[in-house]
Amino acid sequence: MALPTNFNSSSVPEHIAIIMDGNGRWAKKNGKARIFGHKNGVASVRSVTEGAAEAGVKFLTLYAFSTENWNRPKAEVIALMHLLVTTIAGETKTLNKNNICLQAIGDLDSLPSNCQSELSKAIKKTSTNTGMTLVLALSYSSRWEILNAVNSLLIDVKSGKLEQENITEDDFKNYLCTKDIPDPELIIRTSGEHRISNFLLWQAAYSEFYFTDTLWPDFRKENLWEAITNFQNRERRFGKTSEQIK
Ligand code: IPE
Ligand code: IPE
Ligand code: MG
Repeated sequence: MALPTNFNSSSVPEHIAIIMDGNGRWAKKNGKARIFGHKNGVASVRSVTEGAAEAGVKFLTLYAFSTENWNRPKAEVIALMHLLVTTIAGETKTLNKNNICLQAIGDLDSLPSNCQSELSKAIKKTSTNTGMTLVLALSYSSRWEILNAVNSLLIDVKSGKLEQENITEDDFKNYLCTKDIPDPELIIRTSGEHRISNFLLWQAAYSEFYFTDTLWPDFRKENLWEAITNFQNRERRFGKTSEQIK
């Protein structure tokens, strides 16, 4: 499926982040168990990744599993981790074919060991790709990330590696998982929920938000392109007045 003819390719966000939500409700609507929704969400990941690359997006971050998601029923967590392993292993070829580089952010050490090894294998195998970067947020939460950054920063201050006086935004950013990734211009959340759920709190300082009622397993590249078009019609002022921007 090609980009719509009226698609404006000149101001596509460099980084789009997505809170992929609504798998459980989608399954329920279809009279199935929650995991059926997660499984069907994989087709959306595939379509959206392809659509983002086609649109010229440089970084696509997908919130796949939060720190808080560990508190779900054990069977769901196990099924999700299994799905993660099989999906990562199964998609590496396609990522390479599409020149996409895979990265991950979050408390990756807390993932099951087979998941960690599949992930690092896929990251390594795709590391020389020069097209879009796909970032999976796994066992991620922004408060975890910020606290982790503060603790690492304190260690460096103590050892004299970093000067204690006047820590700048750039200094701090270097301690976040996203240190090499620009802030997302656009954050999308599916399923009609209007909250951030511990996602990219620091990085979202000036992100535009796009909320849609579409449940994640129904979301496709066309929906992503619609969100990009909506983004393009907004005025981003960064604290200035409208007149200053023009
Ligand atoms: C998003 O779908 C996937 C994860 C959080 C892992 P949900 O599983 O949260 O689906 P709903 O919100 O219960 O419908
Ligand atoms: C946010 O979805 C996390 C992910 C999409 C991975 P949740 O479904 O966990 O969020 P809440 O609990 O409804 O805020
Ligand atoms: Mg949810």
